Amino acid sequence: MSDTANYSRIEPLRDGRLMEIRALRPDDKDELIAAVKRIGAQSLYRRFFGVKRDFTEKEVAFFLNIDFIHHVALVAVVDEGGKPTIIGGGRYVTIERGKAEVAFAVIDRYQGQGIGTALMRHLVTIARDAGLAELIAEVLPENLPMLKVFEKSGYRTNTKREARVIHVSLQLLQKSPGG
Ligand SMILES: CC(C)(COP(=O)(O)OP(=O)(O)OC[C@H]1O[C@@H](n2cnc3c(N)ncnc32)[C@H](O)[C@@H]1OP(=O)(O)O)[C@@H](O)C(=O)NCCC(=O)NCCS
Repeated sequence: MSDTANYSRIEPLRDGRLMEIRALRPDDKDELIAAVKRIGAQSLYRRFFGVKRDFTEKEVAFFLNIDFIHHVALVAVVDEGGKPTIIGGGRYVTIERGKAEVAFAVIDRYQGQGIGTALMRHLVTIARDAGLAELIAEVLPENLPMLKVFEKSGYRTNTKREARVIHVSLQLLQKSPGG
């Protein structure tokens, strides 16, 4: 397993509270399931293209068994009543040499605090260090926050619109104009 398995950075939310962005750990299982339960239906739909709250053991294992080489997963953690609590996460899964698919989810009441943008920034840093050239995602056309997160990454974003989905591709070797 690479050093990324121990990744940890502290940074402020937009409201000044601190969050930790760290590597997902195998013992995060219960916390991760609890976080998914707190995500609203529309957000779940935007992440999974369906309102999915129950996952099979196989799916849970996929989400948790991260090698931090081909599959990298970060979580955002804040203090809630003295307890470090997962409130969002982002991951990428390599699909071919140099190219990985990314996905994010932030609990609704924490959205708009810069967490998605921060998760993207950290994942991009890790991906570039790992030699990846491209991050892709399928995003619903109405999902403006996610499109904005791509736009704010500072890298060139190419989009291809289809009837029900936008294929987004982030070019990690090309800074966006003004980025
Ligand atoms: C997409 C998502 C991960 C973004 O996370 P986030 O923490 O809200 O992102 P940020 O706070 O960094 O916001 C990014 C931009 O989106 C916009 N935004 C965020 N939440 C918004 C909301 N609820 N309504 C409108 N705009 C919103 C903000 O304008 C922000 O831009 P700004 O920094 O210029 O103000 C989050 O909204 C989410 O979990 N959505 C549901 C799941 C999903 O869509 N996953 C993506 C599948 S790949």
